[in-house]
Amino acid sequence: MEVDKKEELASDSSDQTVNPWEVSAKEGGKIDYDKLIDQFGCQRLDDSLIDRVQRLTSRQPHVFLRRGVFFAHRDFNEVLDAYERGDKFYLYTGRGPSSEALHLGHLIPFMFTKYLQEAFKVPLVIQLTDDEKCMWKNLSVEESQRLARENAKDIIACGFDVTKTFIFSDFDYVGGAFYKNMVKVAKCVTLNKAMGIFGFSGEDHIGKLSFPPVQAVPSFPSSFPHLFPGKDKLRCLIPCAIDQDPYFRMTRDVAPRLGYSKPALIESSFFPALQAKNGKMSASDPNSAIYVTDTAKEIKNKINRYAFSGGQDSIEKHREIGANLEVDIPVKYLSFFLEDDTELEHIKKEYGEGRMLTGEVKKRLTEVLTEMVERHRMARAAVTDEMVDAFMAVRPLPNMFESEKPLD
Ligand code: TRP
Repeated sequence: MEVDKKEELASDSSDQTVNPWEVSAKEGGKIDYDKLIDQFGCQRLDDSLIDRVQRLTSRQPHVFLRRGVFFAHRDFNEVLDAYERGDKFYLYTGRGPSSEALHLGHLIPFMFTKYLQEAFKVPLVIQLTDDEKCMWKNLSVEESQRLARENAKDIIACGFDVTKTFIFSDFDYVGGAFYKNMVKVAKCVTLNKAMGIFGFSGEDHIGKLSFPPVQAVPSFPSSFPHLFPGKDKLRCLIPCAIDQDPYFRMTRDVAPRLGYSKPALIESSFFPALQAKNGKMSASDPNSAIYVTDTAKEIKNKINRYAFSGGQDSIEKHREIGANLEVDIPVKYLSFFLEDDTELEHIKKEYGEGRMLTGEVKKRLTEVLTEMVERHRMARAAVTDEMVDAFMAVRPLPNMFESEKPLD
């Protein structure tokens, strides 16, 4: 097992800041992901691992794997080794419910988690950190709880299997075995260490200091006695954006001291803002993001007006030297959401060599996103309160490792 290096390093260096509360790049808005891997001490997800996923699941790996959206990991190879021997694992992901409507960047981990759940046929726990957002965003307890339930509908709309998925809100679920694990974790982390990992300062209220164990303990099967009784050795795999890494560096650091396995991680890069500034899409600037609630007209306008183009200023110049694909947002977005590899390659070639114009690429992107958002809108409209209750009920999942849904 690799040793997590530099655990105490604040994920903040002079030129870029990446931590659970802030993602910002210095110049040109580009995050240096190689540097992050190095600083955090995680591993690059290389092609041989992606090939293994293909072999083990007998299906084409998700676009987010093929195109490097999920690009880093910790011990994912070990989880695959165990899976190959017939040992399953469970998935854990989450969301901090800070806004009513989700944008496309928020959907990425859930789309990917749904694929993992289907491909590996494993159970999943989804944590809604209403407590976290209440403390960081100055929302009331009640408002955070309301947002958690609203966000649960968007999450369910991604297509999770209710026979394999437990969604919980911290305000409702924390207690019992989960709380015991929190206290065990808390006792292992000194204030100095927390300040190093999370950048807390003396000005922060103590609620913030108390939060990391809450996000840590869903990594341990014993936090869910209704799901995993007697399965203390079951491994946990966490798909998340790489800004969540500090929580899990801490978790992995303390796990062996508590006699628990370290959770494995598979980590994504950030979905950039339309203007390509500041590293990732932000919920606080509506024009920087496409929301799952945007109308077709809004999507079209946002893409046409705000999507940063790598095309040239004049048609003549564009025809001559082509678009700079490195900085072009429409191409970047298509590489996240256009499934067809051949079409994507075709667009990149034609646009990069100046035969295709920005307007045409934006038009294709508008189609792809409009269809995706429309599909999501319909799926969400079909999610009833009863369905939310069903996903959030504290209950055993007797068929959680089975391939087929049981007949009823
Ligand atoms: N802190 C995350 C957020 O603000 C929510 C979260 C909780 C999470 N547990 C997680 C995200 C596990 C990824 C994996 O969105």
